[in-house]
Amino acid sequence: MSPVIDPVVQIRGLWSVFHAGGEDVVVHRDLDLDIARGSLVSIVGGSGSGKTVLLRQILGLATPARGTVTVLGEPASRLARAGAATRVGMLFQHGALFSAFSVLDNIALPLRELRAFPETLVREAALVKLCMVGLSERDAHKMPAELSGGMIKRVALARALIMDPPLLLLDEPTAGLDPGSSDAFCGLLASLHRELGLTVVMVTHDLDTILELSTQIAVVADKRIVVSGPPQEVLAFDHPFVHDFFFGGRGRRAMTLLRERGLSVAAPPATAASAPDLLAPR
Ligand SMILES: Nc1ncnc2c1ncn2[C@@H]1O[C@H](COP(=O)(O)OP(=O)(O)OP(=O)(O)O)[C@@H](O)[C@H]1O
Ligand SMILES: [Mg+2]
Repeated sequence: MSPVIDPVVQIRGLWSVFHAGGEDVVVHRDLDLDIARGSLVSIVGGSGSGKTVLLRQILGLATPARGTVTVLGEPASRLARAGAATRVGMLFQHGALFSAFSVLDNIALPLRELRAFPETLVREAALVKLCMVGLSERDAHKMPAELSGGMIKRVALARALIMDPPLLLLDEPTAGLDPGSSDAFCGLLASLHRELGLTVVMVTHDLDTILELSTQIAVVADKRIVVSGPPQEVLAFDHPFVHDFFFGGRGRRAMTLLRERGLSVAAPPATAASAPDLLAPR
């Protein structure tokens, strides 16, 4: 792995171990990862490979059995203690809104909890974030039950951004959305990344999203990051998960997207069964 200049996240020799049923379950073994400032990183890996645990390590919500997790120059554990929301915004995989709170109150919650600002300012800030995620003032007083899936994700995103954190983590942000809502959400993420200069780290299975948005892809397999780099570099990496994920049934579409983005794709490894077919001119 080549060193990253000015890393926002730097993980070295990480072991994540859980004790379950009297046994130690090793989720990460000697995992390294660097994330550069301003990048948009997709983390991919099989179900249960440890992607969510990795995000929890970056947030300081999980404790490394061994190794170090440094976020914005500090140990992640310290970040969790000292007002994480100002430094890292998080959209949880199964994170829902508080059903008894309005849209505006859900967004305002982390700021309100600080008890540091007058109510008018808190509401103003929440309204700004509401508009930033493409919703309007008319939505402010709606209750979560009145929202579509796409709107819920947008409100959760506004809440994650309320303290203007430089780093945004998203766990499966487009899961469960229809293709139209998913595309719209991705467009929103791309513009926030561009306009706010955010560093975005996203766990996703959505190939279109990954190939359209990522400046870096990190692949979790064999309990570690097996490859991390620009999309074309990762696609050329010889690993069974990379073959299955990028050159399986959905590979043809992935290749088309990359070509449309003008990316030159290195030939996939010879062991990828369908590779010659995928790269054949159409
Ligand atoms: N608190 C915990 N206690 C014990 N085991 C855990 C805990 N959290 C996660 N695990 C285990 O760690 C492994 C990785 O879980 P994780 O949720 O990170 O997977 P994932 O890659 O996010 O999967 P998915 O794509 O299905 O969301 C799983 O085997 C899970 O059971
Ligand atoms: Mg997960």
